[in-house]
Amino acid sequence: MSLIYVLNGPNLNLLGKRQPHIYGHETLADVEADCCRVALEFGYDIRFHQSNREYEIIDWIHEAREEAAGIVINPAAFTHTSVAILDALNAFEPPVIEVHVSNVHKRETFRHHSFVSHRADGVIVGLGTEGYQLAIRRIVSLIRPPA
Ligand code: DQA
Repeated sequence: MSLIYVLNGPNLNLLGKRQPHIYGHETLADVEADCCRVALEFGYDIRFHQSNREYEIIDWIHEAREEAAGIVINPAAFTHTSVAILDALNAFEPPVIEVHVSNVHKRETFRHHSFVSHRADGVIVGLGTEGYQLAIRRIVSLIRPPA
């Protein structure tokens, strides 16, 4: 499989517009372009989605079981609330990397716990939107360990 899913949770459609002092100025369209460029370097394609609805994210994770070599996920606020997204990821075997644009550990205590981190193979926090590119590189190296 040469497809990597990049899934984004609620309010990330406003990336670049909401609280830029926390989330920066890059839009989600910019992030998608960055992800596609990095994935292409390694011969992978990206399927990029964002939703404000928990069930859509769960449905994409189920779809990824058949389609994807790995998942990069920023579940946004669902990170801190969703056992359902954790359960869906637990039913997905290939690598999962969790990304947060902001450093959640520097913020309110309710952002310090992540259900998704119970499943993620790695977590990238506070590196801005660059974290997505690093997550894709990590997925590729987990799938194809260096010789
Ligand atoms: C976020 C951090 C979450 O706590 C928050 O609810 C988000 C974005 C991040 O990328 O920094 O919406 O996941």
